[in-house]
Amino acid sequence: MDTKLKEKNVQVPSNNIHNFLVAESLIDELVKKAFGMRQYAYAPYSGFKVGAALLAKNGDIYGGCNIENAAYGPSNCAERTAFFKAVSEGVREFAAIAIVGGPESGVKDFCAPCGVCRQVMAEFCSPDEFYIILAKSIEEKKIYTLAQLFPEGFSPENLN
Ligand code: THU
Repeated sequence: MDTKLKEKNVQVPSNNIHNFLVAESLIDELVKKAFGMRQYAYAPYSGFKVGAALLAKNGDIYGGCNIENAAYGPSNCAERTAFFKAVSEGVREFAAIAIVGGPESGVKDFCAPCGVCRQVMAEFCSPDEFYIILAKSIEEKKIYTLAQLFPEGFSPENLN
């Protein structure tokens, strides 16, 4: 693990044996973008606002926010909003996603992706090479690979 990340208080789970492939400055850019996207969250029912910033391998960043619905079921998470924006524009290869979430009053805890979003990530992302950045602030971050958050997941390869 990059010692610079440790100095910067970025927590990387001890079972993460992978070298982080996304530059530090880019991590901060993704976190900032995720905070920006959180402002657009439409969450009148839960009051829990989430923002995401998805880095495509081509360098483009797709933002997303959660979008709730009076019928509850049609609600969409911030992560899937970002993925579906990208995929609907022909982009299918991704390097990392930053996620920030919390009540309207502010982000106090790390917000991990729900199971459905992890499944969507598994459709398009390599388990060992896709990074999920959870942030409370620019300074406080945790970084996981998809494999760490979605072990033994079902993916397109299982259909072969
Ligand atoms: N939510 C997300 O958008 N992403 C997550 O990682 C966790 C949950 C949304 C769904 C719902 O609109 C609200 O947060 C409360 O669950």
